Amino acid sequence: MPTYWDYLKLDSLLDLQSGLEEDGDVELPDELHFIVVHQVYELWFKLTLRSLRHGRDALLKPTVDEEMVPVVAHHLRRAVSILHLGVAQFEVMETLQPQDFLAFRDKLTGSSGFQSFQMREIEIVLGLEAAERIRYGKVDPLEHIRSIGEDTPATRLARHRIETASAEPSMREAMQGWLYRTPIQGSTPDKPDDAERVAEFIETYLAALDAHNRRGQDKLLKTFADHNKEQVEKRFTGIINTARNYLNAVDVAEDERAVRRRARAAILFIESYRDLPLLSWPRLLLDVVVQLEEQLVLWRARHARMVERLIGHRPGTGGSAGVAYLDQTASYRIFKDLWATRTLMLPKTALPELIDAELYGYHEPS
Ligand code: HEM
Repeated sequence: MPTYWDYLKLDSLLDLQSGLEEDGDVELPDELHFIVVHQVYELWFKLTLRSLRHGRDALLKPTVDEEMVPVVAHHLRRAVSILHLGVAQFEVMETLQPQDFLAFRDKLTGSSGFQSFQMREIEIVLGLEAAERIRYGKVDPLEHIRSIGEDTPATRLARHRIETASAEPSMREAMQGWLYRTPIQGSTPDKPDDAERVAEFIETYLAALDAHNRRGQDKLLKTFADHNKEQVEKRFTGIINTARNYLNAVDVAEDERAVRRRARAAILFIESYRDLPLLSWPRLLLDVVVQLEEQLVLWRARHARMVERLIGHRPGTGGSAGVAYLDQTASYRIFKDLWATRTLMLPKTALPELIDAELYGYHEPS
């Protein structure tokens, strides 16, 4: 019969807080606190990664059965909860006082959360691309992990984990493939006239959006007599032009454009007709992914505030500008298309007419 301590390997776990000392706990209570808080985060990151990979793998299947969508959402929700807790957990870190941190900070120089390879894996598994990464000076966060450190087991693990994650398909790609296959106005990509049907949906939607926005524009001009009519009209025309370019994916390389266009239209379709029985789970999944990214952004912003409180605007032990660099990373958006759709949403009453509603499990009440 296994005991609690054997099952959890507590002898090993509780023997890992020696920091740079050979064995036993570090002497300073504040340093023990610093190590434990970091280790707890790394354990949560481990579980977050497992949840993200489970969710992604289920979405990667060539056909995702309806009953799998809640399973994906379930795994991602766990990651959301962990990140949510991670945001709150910085409060524990903040019980460390700036002066007490300075008592041992110097010996950490060279080591930094910047080298948290599990955080990098989270970014990679979600789909942050190399070109999107913020560098400090010339330092690229991934290259940094590939090149720094002596040849220790932990260094080898860090490099191995980064390379493995980089070779996997990302959550963003998995989502895109799944979205691409979504029926739009009853049409699927295998139908010969699918491209026309999708284009028609986009055009009807844009017309509805334009009409809706113009009503908003007129109301705005009537309410605020001091508003410059030309400026307001320009703004609204700008919105519709941006929406048209976005939905037609003109910003995307030509070889990927058709797929991206369909995937973007699918997000809009799911979000718009979310009450249809067959779209309600997909809609919830999109919501969980946005929530996940929101939590990651909040994590970054909260970490930055905690850092500002502890070390002000000093450079980091990893060599970056510190808070200024961290604040920049809060601008990352991996699931940009999910965020972008929010600007295009319409109230139900203004939506274009739905075609083939019964395909989505909707039946007119008799
Ligand atoms: C006294 C507490 C802390 C301070 C002063 C601090 C400071 C910093 C600074 C200045 C950076 C920027 C890189 C550098 O130049 O070093 C950084 C990065 C980072 N820290 Fe912390 N940190 C603290 C606690 C934590 C904790 C508890 C975690 C949890 C794992 C963490 C995770 C990270 C991560 C993942 C990065 C990389 C961010 C990115 O590049 O996107 N830090 N930290």
